[in-house]
Amino acid sequence: YKRITVKSLYEMKQNGEKISMLTAYDYSMAKIIDSAKVDVILVGDSASNVMAGHETTLPITLDQMIYHASSVIRAVNRALVVVDIPFGSYQSDPKEALRSAIRIMKESGAHAIKIEGGIEIKESAKRILNAGIPVMGHLGLTPQSIYKFGTYTVRAKEEQEAEKLMEDAKLLEKIGCFAIVLEKIPAKLAEKVAKSVRIPIIGIGAGGGVDGQVLVVHDLLGMTHEFNPRFLRRYMNLYEEMGSAISRYVNDVKSLDFPSEDEQY
Ligand code: KIV
Ligand code: NA
Repeated sequence: YKRITVKSLYEMKQNGEKISMLTAYDYSMAKIIDSAKVDVILVGDSASNVMAGHETTLPITLDQMIYHASSVIRAVNRALVVVDIPFGSYQSDPKEALRSAIRIMKESGAHAIKIEGGIEIKESAKRILNAGIPVMGHLGLTPQSIYKFGTYTVRAKEEQEAEKLMEDAKLLEKIGCFAIVLEKIPAKLAEKVAKSVRIPIIGIGAGGGVDGQVLVVHDLLGMTHEFNPRFLRRYMNLYEEMGSAISRYVNDVKSLDFPSEDEQY
């Protein structure tokens, strides 16, 4: 196995090979995703929604992120594993940010961290990078700021926010981030950003003019079924398929069909 590194991603951009990225929060799913040769696995703080059932990403803790990340790391042989630094574990000051990033790297064995924001997190990102920890940026719709936005609709449609986003992307590149996620922004703007920086731009709801794509794996598999944004392509309808398999099991138990003669000792 050739392991994917931050350098491989940079080379993929230079060679025009698109980067594939998916979320994972547990060992079993990460095993499947890594075997399917997804380049980057993100232990996203979307675990707060998908795994824990919270309405936002804000409640998930650093300890919980480390638990998810260490489960994923044990499954992965090839992908680069990036872990979200959760809300409340980096905003107070750059030292706190570095301490949190170090805990993620040390206690989970992750390869990199992701942090939301631009100029606002500059000093924290620099400190983390100075410690030798690769940092991925995240601009556009940054879900940890949902109460500031008040809505999950497309960001940076207005000139001023678009300009700030472009400046933030250039800033993140300048301080040494290895890639940036752009979430839910106009495709034209995302393409412009991707052409303006040398580091890979990975989009979610940011069109095809960027250097790679990321989705939440439960959305792609159709395990979540009430979340239907335009950018989501569903490859399965596991919510229904799993539900019907489980109903059949219930019926088989009730009807004494399961276990059969062959399924006992
Ligand atoms: O937490 C997450 O799943 C993410 C991706 C949507 C980029 O940050
Ligand atoms: Na996230």
